Amino acid sequence: MPQQRPHSAPLGSATVAAPVFSSHFRGRPPRGRGRPPSKYAAASLFSGCGGLDYGAEQTGDVEVVWAVDSDEWAVRTYAENLGRHVWHADVTETEFPDVPCDILLAGPPCQDFSTLWNLDGARTERGNLFREVARFLDQRQPEAFVIENVPPLLTANRGEAWILVRHALRAPSQFLYSGLGPRYEISAEVVDFADLGVPQHRRRLVITGIRKDLGVLPGPIPRPFAGHHRTVGDALDREPIPPGAANHETGLDSDRVVERLKLIPAGSNYRFIPDGHPLAVRGLISHVYRRLDPDAPAYTIIANGGGGTHGYHHREPRRLSNREKARLQSFPDDFEFAGGQKGAYADVRRQIGNAVAPAGARIVVQALVDTLRAARVGGTAGHAIREAKRRVSGIQPDVGQETCALHRVSQ
Ligand SMILES: C[S@@+](CC[C@H](N)C(=O)[O-])C[C@H]1O[C@@H](n2cnc3c(N)ncnc32)[C@H](O)[C@@H]1O
Repeated sequence: MPQQRPHSAPLGSATVAAPVFSSHFRGRPPRGRGRPPSKYAAASLFSGCGGLDYGAEQTGDVEVVWAVDSDEWAVRTYAENLGRHVWHADVTETEFPDVPCDILLAGPPCQDFSTLWNLDGARTERGNLFREVARFLDQRQPEAFVIENVPPLLTANRGEAWILVRHALRAPSQFLYSGLGPRYEISAEVVDFADLGVPQHRRRLVITGIRKDLGVLPGPIPRPFAGHHRTVGDALDREPIPPGAANHETGLDSDRVVERLKLIPAGSNYRFIPDGHPLAVRGLISHVYRRLDPDAPAYTIIANGGGGTHGYHHREPRRLSNREKARLQSFPDDFEFAGGQKGAYADVRRQIGNAVAPAGARIVVQALVDTLRAARVGGTAGHAIREAKRRVSGIQPDVGQETCALHRVSQ
């Protein structure tokens, strides 16, 4: 039987109240020799399946104590792979729990800033979800944050969106209600995650911030793989995926699509088929029926879209399996994704395409942690992290009960 979260109402119907932690302990350890080992406690808004959080935890210096997302399947995936400290809720209706938080991780939905959609950015409800990041910074005042988005955020609404978001991140209390509150030094960089060791070209805007009173600036993001990228061949061919691997369903394309793909060599797209050919298609973007190039990083793995946008294998005439997409996003093979009985391929595809590639997230977060440690900004004692996670997990709704089933589709 699914358990009900005592402090919550069903998703989207009412305010989700935060628990009150009477024994909350900030846990800042003493500085200098002999201090107890500590990690940076993180909270995660719009956590998705946990790509950013998984990468952050791979540093060994960060532990996520609480996360929230409104996508049921992403939350199930998160719970199975990272832990049950994730809540399935609409963040706009959620009171933030009183947990220790040194670093906020946030991946607000980026569709409205993406060139694949429109440039309505800040005006739309989804664009305004950035307000939730400001609300967290205002209330919980973490030492630092990492936010991922798409580069068009910088130019949406003729630059107005970025002016708003920058203000919200630098001075969240002033942005929200003209109040006094924490201020942040921020750094915004467009990074191709291929330069961070991800076998995929994926240009993303990474915004890091450090609370101004700490007197330290966020540093530049290192690019250790610039000039020697990992390729599709490295990711998919060196260690082939075993046929029965999780999320590795194939055979999802119609015969017509398979025949079309047979005409397109590796690295090419729909344009290779001459106009007038019975299998010719029209496309607006170069992604359409584009097959991978084994000697280069993949092109960007996207979360949804039909019409030849699934991503196509370089050797076999078929769309990529979700496991292959997960590899191109640098998820390990034992990171399994949950999806519904119907439409599981799409449920899983969405989570993978939305995720921050963990290998890149790890480098971004490590750079921030190194800056904090060099400035002797403490962290949170292990027992405080464990206690917070336990208490948050104790009140989350039940997730992960249904099994993930995939079915074959054709189109
Ligand atoms: C870009 S994805 C985040 C990806 C995540 N950072 C990762 O690395 O896997 C944006 C997420 O925001 C979630 N989301 C959108 N609106 C939301 C809301 N109102 N409350 C909570 N989550 C929301 C979506 O379900 C989606 O998982």
